[in-house]
Order: sequence, then structure tokens, then C-alpha cells
Amino acid sequence: MRKLPILLVALLLCINGGISVSAEIENPRGSGLSLNYYRDSCPQAEDVIREQVQLLYKRHKNTAFSWLRNIFHDCFVESCDASLLLDSTRRVLSEKENDRSFGMRNFRYIETIKEAIERECPGVVSCADIVVLSARDAIVSLGGPYIPLKTGRRDGRKSRVDVVQHFLPDHNESMNAVLQRFAGIGIDAPGVVALLGAHSVGRTHCAKLVHRLYPEVDPALDPLHVHHMLRKCPDPIPDPKAVQYVRNDRGTPMKLDNNYYKNLLQNRGLLIVDHQLVTDKRTKGIVKKMAKSEKYFFEEFAKAITILSENNPLTGDKGEIREQCNVANKKKVR
Ligand code: HEM
Ligand SMILES: *[C@@H]1O[C@H](CO)[C@@H](O)[C@H](O)[C@H]1NC(C)=O
Repeated sequence: MRKLPILLVALLLCINGGISVSAEIENPRGSGLSLNYYRDSCPQAEDVIREQVQLLYKRHKNTAFSWLRNIFHDCFVESCDASLLLDSTRRVLSEKENDRSFGMRNFRYIETIKEAIERECPGVVSCADIVVLSARDAIVSLGGPYIPLKTGRRDGRKSRVDVVQHFLPDHNESMNAVLQRFAGIGIDAPGVVALLGAHSVGRTHCAKLVHRLYPEVDPALDPLHVHHMLRKCPDPIPDPKAVQYVRNDRGTPMKLDNNYYKNLLQNRGLLIVDHQLVTDKRTKGIVKKMAKSEKYFFEEFAKAITILSENNPLTGDKGEIREQCNVANKKKVR
């Protein structure tokens, strides 16, 4: 009888030990982050970022699409650490250069935001937090919900290009794989369906669509939409110099709204991953619900963006505050 409690204690110690070890390496729950982390060190930080996002949005509406896509491509690949923003070096190709980043744009305007922040508080605000806060403010510019997000992330020093394809699904990935990858960071099926609602804005280049049109048209596609897609993508092998693309949501291309789900139900989802949301029984009901209720879409979207933004950040003495978002700092001479 006396052995049982000892066994239990030993077991608990094991479990605890395991948790603290993995927390040291990973920090999965976003511990170390807080709301308004820069309250004392740079009280105007969040205002400056919001102002810049709004100014850039006025000049180039598509910057908002980029900030929204950035948070996915940075945070989903192991950690929100701005590794996405690093330029290629002589030894490593950047994440931006990977095929999964196809079509990503406007990175130079991240530097515009960073420069504005550096003028106010040099060396204080991380590029990783700029990625997250610019996404938050872009979502508002696009008509989406305001999502309070924590800050306090630090910037990584190395590209994660070697694992980019392990995390980011391809345009034609199976729904099983997609759901599994998102479950890996704690995002459930409603969260996945909501996040893909980001494809309610922006564009998709013909390179990612021609396999649904040539050599024969994917019969799952709405014939009316096929007509439009063929007009936009007239060549089986798109001319790499001509920028040919289809808007993700023809109805309301500039708005983050639930029109994406209405399109899906009419078989107008552009990518295979989009279309699969209405053929898979785990997600079809959720699509219908989001098509009916924008409120439900926004609630799930806000939850999922929050989880995404807290994925495994670098905090404390890990990482650094980059001086420029596209390059790691030179090694300190101390
Ligand atoms: C299964 C997951 C996903 C896949 C396979 C995927 C794939 C793609 C592809 C192939 C494009 C077109 C790129 C181009 O041709 O220019 C695209 C665009 C876009 N994606 Fe995703 N995506 C996924 C999830 C997400 C998520 C979770 C978000 C954000 C929360 C997102 C945001 C965007 C945005 C905003 C665009 C438009 C970008 C622009 O117009 O510049 N995507 N995505
Ligand atoms: C997905 O598309 C890529 C080209 O973009 C192709 O190489 C790959 O074989 C496709 N995968 C599947 C499972 O169809």
C-alpha cells in the first residue's frame, strides 16, 4: 500500500521534469509575453505601428494582405521570431525565397515600420512584434475584428528555411495533413477553417492554379468561375514575366469577410486546400456556419490568430532585438 504513493510521486516528478525541459527549449504557451509589453520601455510603440500600417494601407492597399500572410508564414514555422524576414546570406537561402513563400510581397515596407519605431525608441521593439502587431492592425484595416495580442517576442538570428516545408502546407495538401499540421500548435478544425478565411483577400498567381485548368478542367470547379479563371490564366504554363493572377474573392476582394465561405459553397475555392474545406466532412459544417454567421467566423478567427501569435516565442535572454528586420545583428563585441 505504501508503494503506490511513492510511484505516483515519481511519476509526477517525471511529468514535471518533462514539462520544464520542453518549456526551456520551446516556450509553447507564449509565456513571457504580455499585453502592452512596451508600456514602460516604449509607450508609443503600438500607436506608431498602427499609424504606419494605416499610412501604408492608404498608399498601397495590398500591404495589408502581406501583413496578414506574414503572421502565418512567420509564426507557423516553429516560432514567431521574424525569421521569415531575414534576407538570404552567402550560405543560406532565405525563407522568403522558398517556394512556399511564392508571391509574398511588400517586405520593404516592414523596414518602413521598423524605421519609424527606431526613430522613437531605438533598439527596443522586436521585428517579431512588428510582424504580429502589423497583422493585427491590417486585419482591422481590412474590416476584420480587433484582436488584442500580446507582445514581448524577441528576434531569432537564423533562417528556418530547412523546416519551412515541414510546417507550411502546399496549395494542394490533403485536408488530413492540413488539420494535423495546425493541430500541432493547438489550432482545431474551426480555427483552421477560420484562418483560411484570410483567402478572402488578395490574389493567387496562375502558377498555383493552372493544374486545375490544364490539361483538363477540374470538374469540381463552378463552370462560371472556370470561365473567369481561364480568362485570367490563358496559358498552361504561365509566362513568368507577365503577372497573371486571379483575385481570391472576386466579390469583395479588399474585405476580410465571410464571402470566402459563400464562394466555397459555390465551388469557387481557388486552391485545392480551399476547395477541400467543403468536401471534407470534418470542415463542411463549419464552412456553412461561417457563411451564415460572420460573427462566428470572426470569433474563431480571433481565437486562432491569438494561438498562432503565441506560438513558441523567444523571450527573456533568447534571441535579440534586430536593428534592421532583414538582417541579424552583427555579433556583439563585448
Ligand atoms: C493550408 C494553408 C494555406 C495554404 C496552402 C496557403 C497558400 C497560399 C497560396 C498558394 C497563396 C497565393 C500566393 C500567390 O500566388 O501570390 C496564398 C495567398 C494568401 N494567403 Fe495563404 N495559404 C494558407 C493559409 C493561410 C493563412 C492561415 C493565412 C493568414 C492567416 C493566409 C493568408 C494569405 C493571404 C493574405 C494571401 C494573399 C496574399 C497577397 O495577395 O499578397 N494563408 N496562400
Ligand atoms: C502539388 O503541386 C506541386 C506543384 O506545385 C506538385 O509538384 C506536387 O506533386 C503536387 N502534390 C500533390 C499531392 O498533388
